[in-house]
Amino acid sequence: MTHILLTGGAGYIGSHTALALLRAGYPVISFDNYSNSSTSALERVTQLAAGNITTLSGDIRDEAALREVFRQHKISAVVHFAGLKAVGESTEMPLHYYDNNVAGTVTLCRVMREFNVKKLVFSSSATVYGDAKTVPIAESAPRSATNPYGQSKLMIELILEDLVKAEPDWGITLLRYFNPVGADSSGQIGEDPNGIPNNLMPFIAQVAVGQRPKLSVFGDDYPTHDGTGVRDYIHVSDLAAGHLKALQYLETHQGIEAINLGTGTGYSVLDMVKTFSAINQVAVPYQIAPRRPGDIASCYAKPDKALSLLGWQAEKTLDDMVRDSWRWQSQNPNGYSS
Ligand code: NAD
Ligand code: WQD
Repeated sequence: MTHILLTGGAGYIGSHTALALLRAGYPVISFDNYSNSSTSALERVTQLAAGNITTLSGDIRDEAALREVFRQHKISAVVHFAGLKAVGESTEMPLHYYDNNVAGTVTLCRVMREFNVKKLVFSSSATVYGDAKTVPIAESAPRSATNPYGQSKLMIELILEDLVKAEPDWGITLLRYFNPVGADSSGQIGEDPNGIPNNLMPFIAQVAVGQRPKLSVFGDDYPTHDGTGVRDYIHVSDLAAGHLKALQYLETHQGIEAINLGTGTGYSVLDMVKTFSAINQVAVPYQIAPRRPGDIASCYAKPDKALSLLGWQAEKTLDDMVRDSWRWQSQNPNGYSS
């Protein structure tokens, strides 16, 4: 039996993708060092979906441990989520980010090649577009990065492009996620950030549940419809479905493709706050605060390539996103340690 290996499979997007893969009948192996996740996530996944899942603890920088995984299991493709993702932390610990994200990916690819596994779905990010000149953003837009986290994603894209140039029998998709939010509609798995959330949606949810007094809205003087930042929020279950489509695409395609996973619609910070309150009938107190350094005004995807190449498009609405985020947060006020 062949398996799909998920590096970082216990994380936010990895656990939702594991669930989607199990529901579609794929045997799954997760390999995660739990540096930013809990073993509970995949335990809950196994309760939600009958299926074949093996959960392994290990670090992608540990070449010997990775070899053991490939030696012991027949693996047909890898979905590579494992990485550190906190922008602020990356500026304080650049070497740690480059080591974990970039060196970790090189090690993974080396072991994949050794075992002749050459299908890879990589978690890239809209962060590789930097401060895009125009929206919606197509995959052909110029790339740049303003912090070590973003640089690490950009470097990995370049490394994987060079790999495919040298060895054209690899099949790689660079999935550029926009802003993942929401949770499985069961409310059993979701986003469980360590400490103070960096991202908007978990912050809103923690304010709504009473863990934080109010949200700071970072800037109301951007050139957007209400002055607050605009982003392309995408439901994590739609994102998970996109990984399935990417794996199916790689069954018959070689080469490398960068593909946006977004909805194509931008919502502002205040759109998010107001929709969350209205749909969930819960207060989200907020104050206007100064802009956050490094933030851009507006970022949303041109999602056409995902539809034409993968046959994928986002299906969930903003109402679904805020409803499912709230179901997870209100049922698990302290995340997996609730
Ligand atoms: P997450 O932190 O919830 O998941 C990442 C998982 O990788 C965690 O379980 C962590 O323990 C694991 N991990 C980290 N370093 C590892 C290592 N060296 N070896 C083994 N496991 C390791 O993050 P997420 O939101 O699920 O993101 C998944 C991927 O998607 C990341 O690569 C991230 O950069 C990328 N991404 C995320 C977002 C977002 O906003 N969530 C947006 C764009 C791209
Ligand atoms: C969204 C909007 C903020 C928090 C980041 C990374 C990016 C990607 C996704 C991984 C912005 C505003 C936020 C708050 C606020 N990650 N905001 N108050 O900045 O688009 O992207 O996560 O690849 O690389 O940079 O997402 O959720 O942090 O912010 O007003 O407390 O919400 O200013 O306009 P962002 P975000």
